[in-house]
Amino acid sequence: CGIVGYAGNIDAACGKPLEVCLQGLARLEYRGYDSAGVALSAPGMDHVEVRKKAGRLANLVDSVERRPMPAATVGIGHTRWATNGVPSDVNSHPHTSRDGKVAIIHNGIIENASQLRLDLQAEGYRFSSATDTEVAAKLLGKIVDAIIAEEGAPDLFKAVRRLARMLEGAFTILATDCRQPGIVVGARHDSPLVVGLGDGENFLGSDVAAFVAYTKRALEVDQDQAVCVSADGVTVTDFYGNPVENPTTYTIDWDASAAEKGGWESFMDKEIHEDPAAVQRTLLGRLDAHGDINLDEVRIEEHDFKAIDKIIVIACGTAAYAGQVARYAIEHWVRIPVEVELAHEFRYRDPILTPRTLVVAISQSGETMDTLMALRHAREQGSKVLAICNAQGASIPRESDAVLYTHAGPEVAVASTKAFVAQITAAYVLGLYLAQVKGTMYRDEIQTTLDALKAMPAKIQWILDTQTKTVHAAAAQMADARSVLFLGRHVGYPVAMEGALKLKEIAYTFTEGFAAGELKHGPIALVDEGEPVVFIVPPERGRDVLHAKVVSGIEEVKARGAFIIAVAEEGDRDAQRYADIVFWRPKCPTLLSPLVDVVPLQLFAMDMAKLKGYDVDKPRNLAKSVTVE
Ligand code: G6P
Repeated sequence: CGIVGYAGNIDAACGKPLEVCLQGLARLEYRGYDSAGVALSAPGMDHVEVRKKAGRLANLVDSVERRPMPAATVGIGHTRWATNGVPSDVNSHPHTSRDGKVAIIHNGIIENASQLRLDLQAEGYRFSSATDTEVAAKLLGKIVDAIIAEEGAPDLFKAVRRLARMLEGAFTILATDCRQPGIVVGARHDSPLVVGLGDGENFLGSDVAAFVAYTKRALEVDQDQAVCVSADGVTVTDFYGNPVENPTTYTIDWDASAAEKGGWESFMDKEIHEDPAAVQRTLLGRLDAHGDINLDEVRIEEHDFKAIDKIIVIACGTAAYAGQVARYAIEHWVRIPVEVELAHEFRYRDPILTPRTLVVAISQSGETMDTLMALRHAREQGSKVLAICNAQGASIPRESDAVLYTHAGPEVAVASTKAFVAQITAAYVLGLYLAQVKGTMYRDEIQTTLDALKAMPAKIQWILDTQTKTVHAAAAQMADARSVLFLGRHVGYPVAMEGALKLKEIAYTFTEGFAAGELKHGPIALVDEGEPVVFIVPPERGRDVLHAKVVSGIEEVKARGAFIIAVAEEGDRDAQRYADIVFWRPKCPTLLSPLVDVVPLQLFAMDMAKLKGYDVDKPRNLAKSVTVE
């Protein structure tokens, strides 16, 4: 879910709190778009003004336009990805206290909500929704009432801290009370929250995208901390009220316009066309004056890096496929075993971790709860964790021992594209760094490989410039296909998996990605007359054994009537002969080829989804940043 908050001048109620909330929600919509809502407070109100609507943010905007909301001094807003209760108006956030004076929004899952609900029901509280958030709202109202009884005045900051101590599970909450219309209070446990520092106004967001249009100065709220924000002050404490001295502040390194469509039909369009820049920026400044490779923040000593004898990559979805690509390169360059594991499986199989294991957590958002939990487990077991992440200051890089940022810029479309190529690039940099530290490659070999990497953005651009039409024609031919198979070998295998994932995510076509060698062990049974099969064909030279094997796979399915799409190197005569359609790749080293091979598959998925009339940026049921386990 996406969360935004705003505190402005207590003496001047106006439309700004609503404007900031709606703007922020528009930028956070990628975090969920089942429903959206806002709550506003101003001096003189006897209840918090709440408006919420199921469906896209546009429904809420429409409702506010038709029936304007009053001027306010503070506001909170929420865009929801349903985990607890179906998407509906009543289940939308904000939820309010029994007397309607307090409103709350929440991201996460409150695990003891059923018990708390029973306790409140026993006291006569009634609930209108199925959500855990309403339980938190009623409970918060009750706590505020208790504080008024004890002290004679409401104290929302204290009440939220008390509430936070009673909740189990994961949560970020923001709350407003109409009796204290100058403040917004937040708290976080296992879920993200950042403060935006303005001039005579302050902001809150589940990430900086919520307020980057207004300020570039941000302040971190850490695990188990609460924050009280007013127009001219920000106070951070732990859940017991102990002040946090000098919380970390930083400057956001991207511009609000980077998170806008800028003339493209969709964010996915724009982001695929940023693939070359994403690779280029991730490589920028990696070599220092001595010719050594740089990581970003490293809290791991060089001798610890030297001692590493195993790498485990943990990630989910697209990021996990980037990890699989990295395995081929790192094992080849550094000669240490690399395992790649889905983060949610990793923790529960009691993995063998030692201080000499380097765990690499790959995450675009840096907030994926499965990955965060896996990294905490790895650190508890004494392993070092290095994060590859696209979001500055997110939880995953903050909790890791070292960080390599991908500089892909904000990725808004739910289906990951430019972040994928940036993650692979960062993993190559890590491989080369380890090869340098461990002395498994000569300096000039490292340099040559880096030079080859630097040539990749132009090759990706070549694909975008020359292959788009072919891809479009292929999609037009395939739009009615009921299923599509993707096959690849070696580094082509994770590319096939990613191609399959993209297509199922946004075009809702049934797809499977397989290792091409498995074809004869099962998947070939699926091949029927006209079945579309996409093959990632390795380059002919060097690893030509692989090339020959993939080509014989193509012949086998061709013989059974399949419709073949090949991604192959320019001049590949076998691909030309057997495939019905070829997406050409320019010549490049095999280990680096995933950077180019995935691009036509991203375009293919987008074209298919558009032809079927789907919203490519916001596929059904999916959220970009999954902050629940
Ligand atoms: C969600 C998204 C995927 C993404 C995955 C991992 O499932 O829908 O597109 O690959 O999370 O996200 P992360 O932010 O950790 O890279």
